[in-house]
Amino acid sequence: MSGPSCPCCYDVEFDERIAERDLREYRRHGPGKTTRTLASALAGDGDGASGLTVLDIGGGVGGLHRLLLEAGAASAVDIDASAPYLAAARREAQRLGLDSRIEFAHGDFVTSAPAVEAADLVGLDRVVCCYPDVDALVGAAARLTRRRLGIAVPRDGRFARFAVGAVNVWQRIIRSKLRMHAHDLARIEAAAGGAGLQLRSITAVGFWRVLLFERPQVGG
Ligand SMILES: C[S@@+](CC[C@H](N)C(=O)[O-])C[C@H]1O[C@@H](n2cnc3c(N)ncnc32)[C@H](O)[C@@H]1O
Repeated sequence: MSGPSCPCCYDVEFDERIAERDLREYRRHGPGKTTRTLASALAGDGDGASGLTVLDIGGGVGGLHRLLLEAGAASAVDIDASAPYLAAARREAQRLGLDSRIEFAHGDFVTSAPAVEAADLVGLDRVVCCYPDVDALVGAAARLTRRRLGIAVPRDGRFARFAVGAVNVWQRIIRSKLRMHAHDLARIEAAAGGAGLQLRSITAVGFWRVLLFERPQVGG
């Protein structure tokens, strides 16, 4: 299978109005609990992020890479398919004085991945559920992971699937092309495993769960 197989345009679905609204909320409350849990899992214990590089795929307003940079990571790349989100993340990074350590790139990560550099810590915070081709997205992210890959996805189970279905009914009503996907854990695990990563932990955070994958260290 080739291509991103994504039928919608993220610039339109995550437009300036949504990016501005999220940025206002984010400035008021800081990164949400799912993002904080994902950042802690990626950073690990103690100074686990110290000096490491970060790849934040679909970073939105930038909560995940901000937390990892504040935890000591050396630099970050934020690649987002939504230009308005990217602009909001850049403004926020400038406000916080973090922008010199972040590279911002606009595009679909799946098609750009061959030109993206590998990073120590890679994050997909509530991104996999926006993308139809889970194998391509998780596989490409896993191949670029040197140490740890963290993924926040909707939980399994009937309630979560019902909620995802309800979101998609609403998306149809408002004529949005964006659909939410509740991809199977087994599929996500297989895509990451195919690139040599092992599932280390699953943490439930309300409607979400945070998956942590790790690349086994040679001789470790
Ligand atoms: C629901 S938002 C989550 C934003 C942020 N990570 C958070 O948790 O607040 C989904 C984000 O993923 C981005 N996205 C989805 N698929 C993508 C892809 N294939 N490549 C790059 N960005 C993608 C969207 O543009 C959007 O910024």
